[in-house]
Amino acid sequence: MLLKTYAAALQGIHAELVTVEIHAVPGVNFSLVGLPDSAVKESRERIFAAMRVNGFSVPHKEITINMAPADLKKEGSAYDLTLAISILAATEAIRTTHLDEYLMMGELSLDGTLQPIHGVLPIALCAREAGFKGIILPLANARKAAVVQELRVIGVESLLDVVRFLNDQQTIEPTAVDINSEFMLGRQMTDIDFQDVRGQENVRRAMEVAAAGGHNMLMVGPPGAGKSMMAKRLPSILPPLSLDEALETTKIHSIAGLLEKNQSLVTRRPFRSPHHTVTEVALVGGGNNPRPGEISLAHNGVLFLDELPEYKRSSLEVLRQPLEDRKITVARNRLSVDYPASFMLVAAMNPCPCGHYGDPTHVCTCTPTQVHRYKDKISGPLLDRVDIHCEIQAVPYSKLKELQPGESSETIRARVVAARQIQQERFAGTGIHCNAQMTPKMLRRYCQIDARGDELLSYTMNKLGLSARAYDRILKVSRTIADLEGSTTIQVTHLMEAISYRCLDRQTSL
Ligand SMILES: Nc1ncnc2c1ncn2[C@@H]1O[C@H](COP(=O)(O)OP(=O)(O)OP(=O)(O)O)[C@@H](O)[C@H]1O
Ligand SMILES: [Mg+2]
Repeated sequence: MLLKTYAAALQGIHAELVTVEIHAVPGVNFSLVGLPDSAVKESRERIFAAMRVNGFSVPHKEITINMAPADLKKEGSAYDLTLAISILAATEAIRTTHLDEYLMMGELSLDGTLQPIHGVLPIALCAREAGFKGIILPLANARKAAVVQELRVIGVESLLDVVRFLNDQQTIEPTAVDINSEFMLGRQMTDIDFQDVRGQENVRRAMEVAAAGGHNMLMVGPPGAGKSMMAKRLPSILPPLSLDEALETTKIHSIAGLLEKNQSLVTRRPFRSPHHTVTEVALVGGGNNPRPGEISLAHNGVLFLDELPEYKRSSLEVLRQPLEDRKITVARNRLSVDYPASFMLVAAMNPCPCGHYGDPTHVCTCTPTQVHRYKDKISGPLLDRVDIHCEIQAVPYSKLKELQPGESSETIRARVVAARQIQQERFAGTGIHCNAQMTPKMLRRYCQIDARGDELLSYTMNKLGLSARAYDRILKVSRTIADLEGSTTIQVTHLMEAISYRCLDRQTSL
């Protein structure tokens, strides 16, 4: 007799259907084929133990299990439940009527209870696409899968629950999540608000411009100036996530096992700040058991690299390709998987090793060579992908107390959203979402400047010794500044402000 049960295998952020075929004839043998990894092979011990503990007899049969398609790698312990149900069905402990209706996955403990697994959102989406009526998952996973509409999500606590459910001896209500109310809840403002930042008008403005055009940004300033504080507040002024963006980001967090216990959706833009000792694999993803890296966990949000010169040069180099392509391809053995990685890069650094070069309140103890060497630690090609450089000075403590709380994130976000709306109309149907992503051709089309602007730009570039690479960046950023003002043309004032955001290109300063 040949029986089939169904599971799924993660491939990047998608899951593909896996059919588990079982063939049982009299005899005593057990073989598992179809590219299972060692964790899947070990499932036999867990399954047989769980069966015994729950009063099922271990079959005295020659069992062959094939996991198809054979060229798709099956990893981890999440197939325990699928395999156990196959074996129980082959020994006629389970009626087979419902086997075709559900995709089922879960890790078994030796006593038959089910442990949660990673990546349930892509798995549930796969079940719906494949036309299943529902999915059977460990109870702890059920809310995470239930964001997928039109799919019955059956949350179960143990192997015995599944057996009773499939034998129609126990009814289990499908888990339901009101995706819209959950989504709307996440759109509300958090406690981390720009209102907490006092003074620092120029940096707040630079962040607003960066958010409005999706520009990468670098802050340079002394310790304690508030760089980390402000970077953390950037997601609060970015446009709220759309439902599609929320689902895609949730898939990545689901695969990485980073969703909170009761969280079913990532509803706020992520903010990731990996330490400078981060390995390349942890940063971009991959490894033996491929996982999304920090750049994918920051997808649709912000990646913050604090103390930029402290990162290994090789780590920063690997960021170049995903910054261009907005995704990362992780190759492993003969297989490769893609993870999305569309994030805003925000970096921070001190201006010199002691941190006080250019600080009016402290004396810098570094030599000019040390200052140069420090700045040179950042790779040129990475700097090339950063549109906005912003110098930041500390607000003295005595003044902090006097200053009024700043504008709230909600007010700033409203202006950002309006500027993004203009960009959405400009780039409709091109696959580009904001000014920072403009191609050279678009740049020529949308960033035209008049003779006065051209004259000013040439003059200032020469005067400040700006490099040619700064030119395109200035045009892109001035387009965003014009959008924030609702101006169809780029004016001289917009250009002037954009020029002020190229401090690291100046040959004269720093
Ligand atoms: N403009 C400001 N308004 C309100 N609080 C501020 C401001 N500037 C600094 N602070 C306070 O100082 C603390 C230190 O700031 P933060 O850690 O962001 O500095 P930093 O520039 O990242 O320094 P480092 O270079 O040491 O990392 C903040 O947590 C905040 O409490
Ligand atoms: Mg800091």
